[in-house]
Amino acid sequence: MEVLQTSALPLGYVAPPFVTRFYLRCRQPQGRTTTLGGELEEQEFRDVMARLAASVVVISARTDRGFRGLTATSFVSISTEPPMVLVGLERMTITRNAVIESKAFNVSVLTRSQEFIAERFAGRAPAVAGAWSDVPHHLGANGLPLIDGCAAWLECKLAQVHQAGDHDICVGGVEAATKGDGEPLILWDRSFWSLR
Ligand SMILES: Cc1cc2nc3c(=O)[nH]c(=O)nc-3n(C[C@H](O)[C@H](O)[C@H](O)COP(=O)(O)O)c2cc1C
Repeated sequence: MEVLQTSALPLGYVAPPFVTRFYLRCRQPQGRTTTLGGELEEQEFRDVMARLAASVVVISARTDRGFRGLTATSFVSISTEPPMVLVGLERMTITRNAVIESKAFNVSVLTRSQEFIAERFAGRAPAVAGAWSDVPHHLGANGLPLIDGCAAWLECKLAQVHQAGDHDICVGGVEAATKGDGEPLILWDRSFWSLR
């Protein structure tokens, strides 16, 4: 399996500002290591986390003023019995509020040809983040949007919310899961990549 870069755009997203003091071991770019009890600067943490590869998804939910959505890479599967997933949502985002309000969220796993949708729901493309009018989508059984042509889709009922720094960990009970076609869009080293 080969990984190909699809975007030359430098992507900066790694969970934004948080605690500046960390109690872990961390190898720094120059080979220095921050040891237990040392301080880890925000940028150093971001640089290290940028080395992790992650699938890119769009989380969707509803407010009383319509559907919202955001691009996320913090989505993971956590339990099979019962099926549960989690996503870390920055507390200041509108979509986080929509998830709390609608007590549900959907997940659309983007494919390599859907980079522009990732940009759109990260607020980087011309339209406002969360705009659904020109994004082909359908509604799940729970009435929330799912983006057409994705690698997979999940419909989730919000089960738990845990505070974690400036993000909330939103745990969802999976009520429906569907496989799609296409290869997933990958974020690694601040760029989009695809598998081949
Ligand atoms: C590749 C990428 C991954 C992202 N992952 C997350 C994430 O996991 N959680 C999060 O809260 N924001 C994440 N963001 C940032 C949100 O997409 C961005 O803040 C969005 O504009 C919020 O929109 P809203 O305020 O309309 O909900 C990510 C952005 C990018 C480009």
